[in-house]
Amino acid sequence: MTKKNNKVTKPDSDRRDFLTDVTVAFGAAGAVCAAYPFVKSMSPAANVKAQSTTTVDISDLDEGMSKTIVWRGKPVFIKHRTKQEIAEMAKVDVSVLRDPQTDKERVQNEKYLVAIAVCTHLGCVPIDGGNYEGWLCPCHGSQFDASGRIRKGPAPTNLEVPPYVYLDDTTIKIG
Ligand code: FES
Repeated sequence: MTKKNNKVTKPDSDRRDFLTDVTVAFGAAGAVCAAYPFVKSMSPAANVKAQSTTTVDISDLDEGMSKTIVWRGKPVFIKHRTKQEIAEMAKVDVSVLRDPQTDKERVQNEKYLVAIAVCTHLGCVPIDGGNYEGWLCPCHGSQFDASGRIRKGPAPTNLEVPPYVYLDDTTIKIG
């Protein structure tokens, strides 16, 4: 404040407040406009939504065979387990497992395992092999059993089981 002609004035303070308000308002509007394309690009495109489920015919999958399909851009194993593999997986002592889960918790139909084929260590795709009737990750040696459970190596958790339903005895809808 200054004294001018014995009057107390508030030099430019109202004007400054007004300019601050206008600047803030334009800044906020600019931020919203700048963010719009990014937010819009995050919405899933129609073709991505359409692929959010995948229907798989497993009638051609003989006992002992497995196949890899793609769901939402990720590989998924479907393994038709042998009677011996089913029996072996059922009798594993879950208390010794790093990520304790019974086989029953991981399958809907004991004949088939459905699991996302992405190693839970650093994301490599495991291959058939290892010592547990399942898969071996070639990157750092993790081994998963015929239930997709981590049995050896650095992976911290079991292979993820995706959401799926049986549409009939030989058709699975994943997603
Ligand atoms: S990514 Fe599979 S063991 Fe490291």
